[in-house]
Amino acid sequence: MSMLRTKSIEQSLADADEPEYQLKRTLSALDLVVFGVGVVIGAGIFTLTGRAAHDVAGPAIVLSFVIAAVCCGLAAMCYAEFASSVPVSGSAYTFSYASLGELLAWIIGWDLILEMFLGASVVAQGWSAYLGSLAENLGWSIPESIGYGGVVDVPAVLLVLVLGGLMTLGIKESMRVNLVLVGLKLFIVLFVIFAGIGFISSANYSPFIPPAQEPAAASGLTQPLVQALLGFEPTTFGVGGIVAGAALVFFAYIGFDVVATTAEETRNPKRDLPIGIIGSLVICTVLYCAVAVVVTGMVPYDELDPEAALANAFAVHGAEGMATIISAGAVAGLTTVVLTLMIGASRVMFAMSRDHLLPAGLAKVHPRFRTPWVITAIVTGITALVAGLTPVGVLEQMVNIGTLSAFVMVSIGVIVLRRTRPDLPRAFRVPWVPVLPILSALICLYLMLNLSVETWLRFLVWLAIGFAIYFFYSRSHSRLAGTDRHARVQPPT
Ligand code: ALA
Repeated sequence: MSMLRTKSIEQSLADADEPEYQLKRTLSALDLVVFGVGVVIGAGIFTLTGRAAHDVAGPAIVLSFVIAAVCCGLAAMCYAEFASSVPVSGSAYTFSYASLGELLAWIIGWDLILEMFLGASVVAQGWSAYLGSLAENLGWSIPESIGYGGVVDVPAVLLVLVLGGLMTLGIKESMRVNLVLVGLKLFIVLFVIFAGIGFISSANYSPFIPPAQEPAAASGLTQPLVQALLGFEPTTFGVGGIVAGAALVFFAYIGFDVVATTAEETRNPKRDLPIGIIGSLVICTVLYCAVAVVVTGMVPYDELDPEAALANAFAVHGAEGMATIISAGAVAGLTTVVLTLMIGASRVMFAMSRDHLLPAGLAKVHPRFRTPWVITAIVTGITALVAGLTPVGVLEQMVNIGTLSAFVMVSIGVIVLRRTRPDLPRAFRVPWVPVLPILSALICLYLMLNLSVETWLRFLVWLAIGFAIYFFYSRSHSRLAGTDRHARVQPPT
């Protein structure tokens, strides 16, 4: 039964107030929106828009963005309700600890770590790719073996190490750097939209939904799970292509949930977290749809560059200078995504070690900077290793599956917590409970089924490792187990 024990909301809030675990409350609602936009707009919009339009959806890719936004919007509302009633670091992990029990909470924390660690590593590799192409545009070159896709991706490793240092110095300082880079990134996205309008030719929108085609047969480990289980063959283009496009561009929206990990560094979390989560999602949806419409209007969808569509849509029209500006913007833009995902991963681990599901010593806060420096060092080291040494293009779907599984749990958690704790003050409430949370869980599950068998197998291995740690370590050390009440970390002197 210990696996089902829940941590009361009151206990979660009280733990966050203990001096040895206290973080500095400095962030405002605006900081959180900037934080959200900083982590959401990244490799997804710069690369996936072109690939999805070219491969599966055509100009109707804008509808794929709308479908993915609806899925994320439903999950975002569930996150916002939780964050406004349980404003504690750790995001979905903490929410599930309060509603679904310790084992499921552990698994969600484990999934979030997967999402954020791997997300940071994957985007660091993407950053290195754009750095390489920017350097080329400027006439420099990075040797192949130590650049993107090389033996060791040195630029990606250096980026992660610098950002790790920044995180140790303090979140407010990280936010300042974030603000400048997010500003630059927004400028580039708006630049694509407004400069691109002039190059639109309405002929490129027809047909808006290209006729459905049989896809190149995927089989074995690379086929979607839904196909392996039910023999359901997805089509490319047509209406099926729009849905397939949504599963693909989902990656572009990942990150708004990371806002919820900053709960303890926010001045007025009950009000500001829902604003941060939903606000950043709305801004990104509008920008994504606009970019999708403009880019598919600039170049016929079957001629879009699946690697770097945004920059190349300008290059096709002879605007090479604009293409260089966009590559430079992508380098700046992806930096904030890596930084924010690393901050998110460290905050989830912080919450888990404070509950002693991971060793408590990890949660130590630096006496001067008041940041969880031990965890930051671990997150930085592992992210740098994975980014530097993993072959490119292997881990993206793992990020999606980690995120979607957390969304499913949070959606179910909202319903459970409404029943178990109806009394709790909720600054934000999801409308039409339980209909909307159930819909949210079902849509996320459907998108998960569209991921490859290979991804599912890797995910199951990750879960098996998680279960092993839980049963051999966390279950007995958990603060709720009461066995190590005296083994708390000493307050910094
Ligand atoms: N949403 C983030 C990106 O597009 C992960 O890079």
